Amino acid sequence: MPGTEFFGKEETEGVNEVLTTGCLFRYNHDELRRGIWKARELEAEVCRFTGAGYAHAVSSGSTAVSTALAAAGIGHGDEVIVPPFTYIATIEAVMFAGGLPVFAEVDETLCLSATGILKALTPKTKAVLLVHMCGAAADMDAVMQVIDDHNLILVEDAGQALGAFYKNKSVGLFGRTGAFSFDFFKITTAGEGGLFITDDEQRYKHADSFADHGHDHIGNNRGMENHPIIGFNYRISELHAAVGLEQMRRLPEVIRLNLRNKKIIKDTLGSVSEVSFRRVPDPDGDSATFLNFFLPDTETAGKVMDQFAEDGIGGCNYWYTNMYHFINQWDHVKDLKSAAPLAIHHFGAPQDYHNLDLPVSQEVIGKLISLGIRASWTEDEARKFGENMKRSILKVLR
Ligand SMILES: Cc1ncc(COP(=O)(O)O)c(C=O)c1O
Repeated sequence: MPGTEFFGKEETEGVNEVLTTGCLFRYNHDELRRGIWKARELEAEVCRFTGAGYAHAVSSGSTAVSTALAAAGIGHGDEVIVPPFTYIATIEAVMFAGGLPVFAEVDETLCLSATGILKALTPKTKAVLLVHMCGAAADMDAVMQVIDDHNLILVEDAGQALGAFYKNKSVGLFGRTGAFSFDFFKITTAGEGGLFITDDEQRYKHADSFADHGHDHIGNNRGMENHPIIGFNYRISELHAAVGLEQMRRLPEVIRLNLRNKKIIKDTLGSVSEVSFRRVPDPDGDSATFLNFFLPDTETAGKVMDQFAEDGIGGCNYWYTNMYHFINQWDHVKDLKSAAPLAIHHFGAPQDYHNLDLPVSQEVIGKLISLGIRASWTEDEARKFGENMKRSILKVLR
């Protein structure tokens, strides 16, 4: 969890600056805040780093995905292609937008594949919600070809991929709108927080209003602002933004250290012939938050995880059995269980969720183990960690 590995006096000072003014609210109160605008500064920093034309900070990665869907024009009754391997927020965001999730295959990029999207297309498909999983971009040339050929709307859930680029373009900027998460587990954390990005001014304006009860944020009299659209409260507080801003400033150095430590461990595991690695379509754009590797099959991956536990090796995720990241454990979604009726109850599920045919995803996620890279490891610590992992893996394989 690189974000939390480097908390320092900068974060403390940033929060204290906000507390000293007493203005915890991101809008208005110009006199009280004495020129301190943390959310605005965070948005400017995200624009600078990603190259986005516009950024808007919100309360979480989940609300950033909701905002990205709304600003892209996705809503009631729209079929949206989604991956079966993601954090559950992706699917929830589609359902709460009134959309109908259609599950398609991921491949060894760990993201939706172009062939998977093609196979899942129906005459009603409106959009693809592409998730850039585990710190690296999807195969964007291939994905964009399908998006363009079929006139689809692309929205990017880059909740786990701030800092990832594909051919020098930041994730989140390939489609109409994109979203990042700044929750406690991400490469940059605000405690809780999220960022919406786009290059389209009108979509930015919609996001800006959508995330704050429709306010147009023109002028300095909040009670008298106009409301071009219906919105809700997805605002970030100045306290969270202050932390997120300092974390953004650390990001280039965190990525450098991630890449260094990931390479050390990858080189060590790479000497085991049965181990292979996630396909990263643009390795130069990897944020390197995870080393994702494959064992020959699901059974072996499960045994390796057991061996890691026995040998005291932490930090590895086995998503195949994780309750929140893989579809096999999402019975509540398949059963359409919700607190109150959703659009999907009215329209009906677009697929038979209990009998989905996703053999590639099952195989790929079954044999996948993801090690969370620690940026704070010294080179020596990374080397030792990799050697310990290799020893455990060989106990299972040999
Ligand atoms: C791909 C993805 N999308 C969305 C989210 C939601 O982010 P948050 O926890 O900030 O709401 C996450 C969080 O893990 C995520 O991994």
